[in-house]
Amino acid sequence: MAKEEIANLALRRSLFFPSAGIYAGSPSGFFDFGPDGETIRRKIINLWRKQLVEKEGMVEIFGSQILPEKVFNASGHLQNFNDPIVQCRKCNSLHRADKLIEAHSKGIVPESLSTPEFDKLIKKHEVKCPKCKGSDFLEVKKFNMMMKVDIGATGDVSCYLRPETCQTIFLDFPRLFKTMRIPLPLGIAQAGKSFRNEISPRNSLIREREIGQMEVEIFFNPFKIDEISNFKDVENYKLNLMLLGKKTSGISCKDTVKKKLVSGKLVAYYIARLQQLYEAFGIPLEKMRFRELDKDEKAFYAKETWDFEVETDLGWVELVACNYRTDYDLKGHGKESGQKMTIKEDGKEFVPHVFELSAGIDRTFYVALDLAFKKEKRGPEERIYLKLPKRIAPYLVAVFPLVKKDGLAEKGKEIFNELNSFNLDVFFDEKGSIGKRYARVDEIGVPYAITVDYDSLKDNSVTLRSRDSMEQKRVKIDDLPTLLWKLQAGKEAF
Ligand code: GLY
Repeated sequence: MAKEEIANLALRRSLFFPSAGIYAGSPSGFFDFGPDGETIRRKIINLWRKQLVEKEGMVEIFGSQILPEKVFNASGHLQNFNDPIVQCRKCNSLHRADKLIEAHSKGIVPESLSTPEFDKLIKKHEVKCPKCKGSDFLEVKKFNMMMKVDIGATGDVSCYLRPETCQTIFLDFPRLFKTMRIPLPLGIAQAGKSFRNEISPRNSLIREREIGQMEVEIFFNPFKIDEISNFKDVENYKLNLMLLGKKTSGISCKDTVKKKLVSGKLVAYYIARLQQLYEAFGIPLEKMRFRELDKDEKAFYAKETWDFEVETDLGWVELVACNYRTDYDLKGHGKESGQKMTIKEDGKEFVPHVFELSAGIDRTFYVALDLAFKKEKRGPEERIYLKLPKRIAPYLVAVFPLVKKDGLAEKGKEIFNELNSFNLDVFFDEKGSIGKRYARVDEIGVPYAITVDYDSLKDNSVTLRSRDSMEQKRVKIDDLPTLLWKLQAGKEAF
């Protein structure tokens, strides 16, 4: 759905909005999430936690966002985490060189090109400044995206906001491996914030400066990359792989490994699990792909990368980077800290390798909204609703007394409390016309609404309405908890 429609809905319902908006000149790329937006966001994280972290026996941590300079010397971010930037001579505006050229050439421009290569492409594609339409630019420069924070009263402890949540995971690996007593492959997960000083944040939640990430790092024995005990569960499951320069095709995990399209069974297994997770987020299979990155598109720490992308109104959007990071990070931290990063297995001592699934929380949120957004004409009226999957909708059901008086509000509150005691996500609203209350919950994606009317006081039943079909049916109040549980679990149709 069009970007403007999503932006309007987000503002109208306070799903998300620019941070510090009451002050003019607040920097872009920072967002606040309102009550319903925060609930959807939390549910996205919870689904990731249930479907991937818990199901796969991983452990989850919550680490500090500020880390000392040495960490990023070791990780290579201070040296390599750069964006190419270019300045317009006429209006002085700054732009990401790769994105600017992409907008003119309609092709992918790797951000790792050298600065003279960018200069050449700017000339070749006759790139114009998006602000003033001028075509005279200064030479392209590399700009480090790390955000510095000086700690202590004298500010003499140089630290940085982490640019990826996984760095905390690498630092904690030796301790967790020892204390948690889980053998390899060991998945360590974290949902949190990371920070990048983007030159041109844009496309709403897609390119932020403060980024929500849910990452899993799978530490494994590199000699056992093909020993995955659960591989049989996915061997016939088809992956939407887009090999270098080729079109998407569904190919089974078994064939992916047989044809050596990935480094090993472990990679195929975890990207299959990721694709299944995004099916649960409501993304249709035909709108997703794993795009293999070429050597000059990959991050500096990656040997193999598959970007998980989803087709939206903005084009193909990267939601997850799946990187085979080898022993790059643990080796770097071992060297800089002097600590031991090796482990022993089958009499062999080695530094574990890492495969990561690095998902953007806010990007996933935005894309789920984009794909769920529905607008339909009903006679002269137009209706907007979000067809979110039940597990990421902010509430499963809303309870509306038709009017506040004559005991209907009290009856509604009773039903609310009863459903809440069954651990169902339920919302209560007694204000305004019933039509407006339906419109509100439709727009934030609540799948069902219960209306308590005068008959409810006599026959102990209510009206249950479906968000998608707007169909209504009469249901006994005593049957509501079981029915709603079944509807939520997909074990009963409306
Ligand atoms: N950890 C990979 C990334 O943040 O892109």
